[in-house]
Amino acid sequence: MPATTISNLTDLLQSLLADLYATEQAIIAALPEMIDDTMDTKLHDALQEHLDTTKEQLSRLETINTELEFSTTKDAEGIDAIIHATQQIVNAIIDSATKDAAIIAAAQKVEHYEIASYGSAAEFARQLKFNSVASLLETTLGEEKDADAKLTSIAQGGLFQKGVNEKAVEE
Ligand SMILES: [Fe+2]
Repeated sequence: MPATTISNLTDLLQSLLADLYATEQAIIAALPEMIDDTMDTKLHDALQEHLDTTKEQLSRLETINTELEFSTTKDAEGIDAIIHATQQIVNAIIDSATKDAAIIAAAQKVEHYEIASYGSAAEFARQLKFNSVASLLETTLGEEKDADAKLTSIAQGGLFQKGVNEKAVEE
């Protein structure tokens, strides 16, 4: 695909939105396999809930597209690379508690990519006075931050510890 010319902040925002649209689609495609791989019920439920949220985030981007048109056919290069690399790690792990830890690490990597992208896009939209676009992006940004915080609390709430203890019992 030929590179789109970016000559101003609006073009840059449209390019970010095109990437986010491709990103959310890639996440919707990748999450079910990650959910199937989880053993911890809290992690399983959090990821399942995030899959539903992600579908809403995609439709929020479709709403944005009616006000500020962007390409919906871009490749999700950034997130595809993260997903591919993390899937290889998850697939290489046999121990289920370690697999859960790898899934949390993978999901948080994805969240941080989205937080950075939505944060920039919301700020650009605000600067450019696309106020309704900015507030839709801020809603999604808040959801991504919540998802990230939830993953941290699941990890700190005993998931890693459980893996360590199970290992200790086995040995
Ligand atoms: Fe998302």
